[in-house]
Amino acid sequence: MKKQLKSFVVAGALVIAISAAAHAQAPKVRDPGPRSGTNAGAPIDGLTSGETKLFTAGQSRFAKVDTIAGDGLGPRMNMNSCQACHAQPTAGGSSPKPNPQFQFIQSADHGTNQLPSFITESGPTREVRFKLTGKGVADGGVHDLFTISGMKDAGACKLPQPDFAANKNNIIFRIPTPLFGAGLIEQIRDTDILENLGKASPEKRRLQIRGRLNVVVSGNTHTSQNRIRGATNNNGNDGTIARFGWKAQNKSLLIFAGEAYNVEMGISNELFQTEREEACPNTVVKMPNDGANANPDQIGTPDPPFDVLSDIEVFASFMRFLAPPKPSETEPGGAPSILKGKALFSQVGCALCHTPQLTTDPNSRVAALAGKPANLYSDLALHRMGDNLDDGISQGEAVGNEFRTAPLWGLGQRFFFLHDGRASDLIVAIRQHRGVNSEANGVVGQYDRLRESDKQDLLNFLRSL
Ligand code: HEC
Ligand code: HEC
Repeated sequence: MKKQLKSFVVAGALVIAISAAAHAQAPKVRDPGPRSGTNAGAPIDGLTSGETKLFTAGQSRFAKVDTIAGDGLGPRMNMNSCQACHAQPTAGGSSPKPNPQFQFIQSADHGTNQLPSFITESGPTREVRFKLTGKGVADGGVHDLFTISGMKDAGACKLPQPDFAANKNNIIFRIPTPLFGAGLIEQIRDTDILENLGKASPEKRRLQIRGRLNVVVSGNTHTSQNRIRGATNNNGNDGTIARFGWKAQNKSLLIFAGEAYNVEMGISNELFQTEREEACPNTVVKMPNDGANANPDQIGTPDPPFDVLSDIEVFASFMRFLAPPKPSETEPGGAPSILKGKALFSQVGCALCHTPQLTTDPNSRVAALAGKPANLYSDLALHRMGDNLDDGISQGEAVGNEFRTAPLWGLGQRFFFLHDGRASDLIVAIRQHRGVNSEANGVVGQYDRLRESDKQDLLNFLRSL
């Protein structure tokens, strides 16, 4: 007994000695955190002067805070401007700090709205979806945080906020995806996406990485399990690849703009004509709230054509012409570490999903977007990401555990990661890729086996983007 105890103590001391030595050699790996400055927000190089004017017009409409009486805000909404949610590090980006949804409730004109418990000052802006309806069948839809009830110009209509507390276990979140370089993503040909997905197939097979595309064909709305699919916003008749949003559920920037104007801000428009709460319409502005403006009295100077366009067309142009983020060659950690990290990113297999580069259609109508490299770090395909990330929502082909490989450009200046913003540390974001039935398990295993200094190089590379 005594002898046993003694050897236990010796073994314990040995373990401490070994780990102390390891500690002295390798400082703890850490996410260097968001880079300061602004790596994005400018128009893409090579726009014509007309395109540049359209970009500028779009930039100001994207930033504009919409009102009930002026624009048709509400009756339900998540926020009152595109830029509120797409702001970090600048207009067009992702979720900023402090959280504008938190600030809205602090403002004087917040009506009868109360702050949902999951919205905090330092947390991400969030959109909520419910997994099931009150009747227990698949819901999947967006339930807006706020209503215009009690706000200036809202009239008498009283709408309650959804009962988020009662739906505590029925809620999932989505955070805003950044828009820099979105015009390049829009112009990547389907054939190139398909060809890229077929590349490195022996290695993908070894690591059990598959990936498939969000292509929905109308007339084919049931899966083999006879489960009804959630909808995508695309044309079910053309059989082409949808690519925007966390589940690649949206076909184009114009459609996303129409959807966001309607769903995030409650502003109906020429793509989505119906007010989302017809029993309680905002009657100050006629339906649809946003449309082409052909009334000559309201068409201004010096740019009449852009005053004719509806807001959603102008938003789409702004996003289309936003330049991709500029990576840093030296920050953080210095050029040699970043270069090494970039090589490791491919070696461990991150690049099998996060494709470093695709090229746009050489025949793009906008010369500045034609035949250009897009360093997006995504294959734009859906992958099964395991039980950790499963959100129980199906959108088109994408089921609960499937997500579009998140483009990593601009990562260096982001505060929040993963579809629901659960991570603000890259190490956590990588760890979350692991789960039951995740295609990323093999690659995360290879990452885990890296030396600590190699992991640091990889993280430095990610924060250089
Ligand atoms: C309340 C916050 C919020 C507001 C306001 C908002 N968005 Fe978003 N945006 C989001 C969220 C959340 C997503 C991700 C949705 C998803 O994929 O489920 C998103 C995604 C997008 C995307 C997809 C980009 C990509 O590559 O995936 C586009 C485009 C977009 N928004 C445009 C707009 C426009 C235009 C407006 C204004 C009309 C707007 N958004 C207003 C939260 C917001
Ligand atoms: C099987 C495909 C696959 C592999 C392999 C993979 N990823 Fe991902 N990655 C994804 C998908 C899909 C998401 C989005 C998941 C979500 O939000 O739920 C993602 C998200 C991320 C994010 C968060 C991005 C954001 O916008 O919030 C980071 C960072 C990331 N991956 C880094 C890595 C690194 C580093 C590796 C290699 C160690 C890696 N990934 C390997 C598919 C993959």
